[in-house]
Amino acid sequence: MDGNVHLLPQNDMLRALHTIIRDRACTHGSFVFHSRRVIRLLMEAAMNLLPVGKKDVVTPVGATYEGLEITAELCAVSVIRAGDSMELEFRELCPAAPIGKILIQRDKQTKLPRLYYSHLPPDIADRHVLLLEPMLATAGSALAAIGVLVEAGVPEEAVIMINFLSSPEGLRRVHAERPGVRIVTSSIEEGLNEHAFLLPGIGDFGDRFFGTADAGARR
Ligand code: PRP
Repeated sequence: MDGNVHLLPQNDMLRALHTIIRDRACTHGSFVFHSRRVIRLLMEAAMNLLPVGKKDVVTPVGATYEGLEITAELCAVSVIRAGDSMELEFRELCPAAPIGKILIQRDKQTKLPRLYYSHLPPDIADRHVLLLEPMLATAGSALAAIGVLVEAGVPEEAVIMINFLSSPEGLRRVHAERPGVRIVTSSIEEGLNEHAFLLPGIGDFGDRFFGTADAGARR
């Protein structure tokens, strides 16, 4: 995978969290609690990709700590609806940063994305953007969302997309069409099935997070 993809360390803790939330028997409450732990890790990993400058501080014992500070102005843009699941963790890390919204929904039959609405911070072209998009399957939705950001003046290099799960084909497609965009993900999946669902997958992330899944829906 190319250098623009940042995969969280696949350690035992992360695999244990994935094991809980990928289980079709996982309750709604448990899904929210444990997926938020992963989202927090994703958010911290994304912050690690922001530009920094040197900053020295004097410690309480009078010594100098030669440190760093993040120099970028930041905002998040949530791809409604599933992206809203990541907003709380972003808000906890960056309480004063603006959050934009893009509403894209896939056609249930064709799986093609349709843009319904966007509302972005007016100075977004001067900011780094964390694009909150839990699922990267065909990458149609993600590319449509990135297109909205680029249209608003955001350079690709200032876009960091946060996926919970990514398909190899989706990652390849984003890299081919938007080579400057970086992606942080907690899993690169085996691939997509004939219905464009991720395998082994997690189901419909938005439905499971917001508690709106049909009892029989196991996407
Ligand atoms: C899901 C998911 C992504 C998209 C990924 O959204 O949240 O936005 O599909 O698939 P793609 O890479 O093939 O475009 P969906 O349209 O199901 O709406 P939701 O956010 O309400 O779940």
